[in-house]
Amino acid sequence: MGFLGLDIGTGGTRAVVIDGEGRVVASASAPHVPFSSPEIGWAEHDPEDWWSAARTAIAAVLTSVPASEISAIGLSGQMHGSVVLDENDAPIRPAIMWCDQRTGVQCEEITAKIGPKGLIELVANPAVNGFTLPKLLWLRKHEPENWSRVRSVLLPKDYIRLKLSGVRASDVADSSGTLLFDVANRNWSDEMLKAFELEASIFPQVFESIEITGAVSATGSKATGLLEGTPIVAGAGDNAAGAIGLGIVRPGMMSATIGTSGVAFLVTDGPQKDPRGRIHTMCHAVPGRWHNTGVTQSAGLSLKWYRENFGHGRSFDELVDLAKQVSSGSDGLLWLPYLMGERTPHMDPGARAALVGLTASHTEGHVIRGLLEGVAFSLRDSIEIFAELGTEAQSIRLGGGGARSSLWKKIQADIYRRPVETAREDEGAAFGAALLAGVGAGAWSSVDEACDAAVTVAETIQPDKTASRELDRNYSAYRKLYDALRPITEILSKEV
Ligand code: XUL
Repeated sequence: MGFLGLDIGTGGTRAVVIDGEGRVVASASAPHVPFSSPEIGWAEHDPEDWWSAARTAIAAVLTSVPASEISAIGLSGQMHGSVVLDENDAPIRPAIMWCDQRTGVQCEEITAKIGPKGLIELVANPAVNGFTLPKLLWLRKHEPENWSRVRSVLLPKDYIRLKLSGVRASDVADSSGTLLFDVANRNWSDEMLKAFELEASIFPQVFESIEITGAVSATGSKATGLLEGTPIVAGAGDNAAGAIGLGIVRPGMMSATIGTSGVAFLVTDGPQKDPRGRIHTMCHAVPGRWHNTGVTQSAGLSLKWYRENFGHGRSFDELVDLAKQVSSGSDGLLWLPYLMGERTPHMDPGARAALVGLTASHTEGHVIRGLLEGVAFSLRDSIEIFAELGTEAQSIRLGGGGARSSLWKKIQADIYRRPVETAREDEGAAFGAALLAGVGAGAWSSVDEACDAAVTVAETIQPDKTASRELDRNYSAYRKLYDALRPITEILSKEV
C-alpha cells in the first residue's frame, strides 16, 4: 500500500510516495521551464510544461515503487493561477501565475464594485494581484478573442487532474484563493459570479480535500504508467498541503515556513476574518476547519538576493556564519524585506525594501543578521494579527529554509517569543498531498490521525528572554518603518 503526492510548484514538480505508515519511500523532482515574463511584472507558464514535468516525476518514482502499489493519488500545487481551456480542453493561452502583478486596475475595480467590507463578507479576502478573479477580468478586457473561447477555468494542479483522469474538479483550500469562493460556506460564491457576470459552469465542481474526485483514466494511465482506476483525491493548494505535511491540522496550531516567500499559517475552527484585509482567510484541507495565512513576499529571497548581488560566490552557510558572530538585534540595524512589495500587513505591491540604522561599526555580518531578523519581524507581523483576531498559538512549527539553519531557528524563537519546533520529515506540500490521499483511501480515519502517525517533532527550541527583549525593541522600531518611508517611496516611484 502506497500513496502518491504530486506538487506542481513554481520551479518544478515533485512526486513523493509514502507507505501505509506515512514513511517516504520514494521521491523525485522535475524542473519546469522557467516562467516567461513578456512584460515587467508579468508571469506566465504553459500548462503543458507542468504536465510534462508531472509525467517525468511520476516516471522517476515508479522506477522504485510499482504502480500496482499506489492505492491513491493526492494533488497539490501553486495557487491562484488561471488555466483557461477551450471546448476541447486545450489551453487557450499560457496560464497567468500567482506572482503576476498586472492586475492592479482590476483589483481596484473589484474593490470599488463590492467594497472592501463586502469582499471580506463574501469571499473573506481582499482583492490582491495574485488571486484568480482579477486575472480573468484582465483577460476579458485585454484579450476578448481568447476570452470568447473560454469554456472552463482551472487552477494549476487541477489541470494535471484533468490530464490524469479527464475530470474537472477542485478542492476547497485551493479554490479559496480565487476571490470567487464563499470561504465560510465552502462553495462558489453566487453573488460574486453574478456581480462579475461569470458563468458558474466554467468553474469545476469543488470537493473537500480528502474526497475522491475520480480515477486515473486509460489515457492518463498510458501517459504516466499509473494504473487505470487509481483513485485521485481533491488535494489542496500548496500552502494548505504544506501545512498538512508539517502536521499543522488542529485549531490553534501554527507554522512559519520560509521559502522564496514566507508564510505564517494558523489553523482555526471557523473562518476567522480580518475586517482590515491584512491576511488571507481560507478553507483548510481538513473538513470543518479553516486557516489564516500571512505572507512575506521576500523571505528566503532576501538572503538569495544578497548572495547573488554581494556574495561573490560564497555559500549561504558561509554568509550565515558571518551573522553568527554578531549579537541579537544586529546592534540596531533593521531590514525591511519589501524587495517585491509586500502582502501582510500592507497588501502593497509598491512597497520598497530598506536597510536602516547603519553606522561605521556595522560589518557584513550585521547586515546578514539584520536580513534574517527582518524576515522574522515580517512574519511576526502576521502572528500579531492572528493574536489580535483572537488566536494565539503556544508554539510554532518551522518549515522550509528557515527550519534548516540553526541561527534562523534561534532568531525565529526569540522574535516570535514562543518555542519553535521542526518536524522530522520536511517534505513539503507533496508529502501533505500524499497524506490526504491516504485518508481518502481509508488508511487513516482522519487527517488528524494521518498526521499523528506520520509527523514527528524532531527538535524544540526555546526563546531566550534576554535576546527577545533586545529584539522587541528593534521590532517596535521596525513596525514604524513602512509608514515613515512612505513619502520617500512615493517620490522614488514617480515618473521623472
Ligand atoms: C499563496 C501563494 C503562494 C503560491 C505559490 O497565497 O501565493 O504560496 O501558492 O506557491
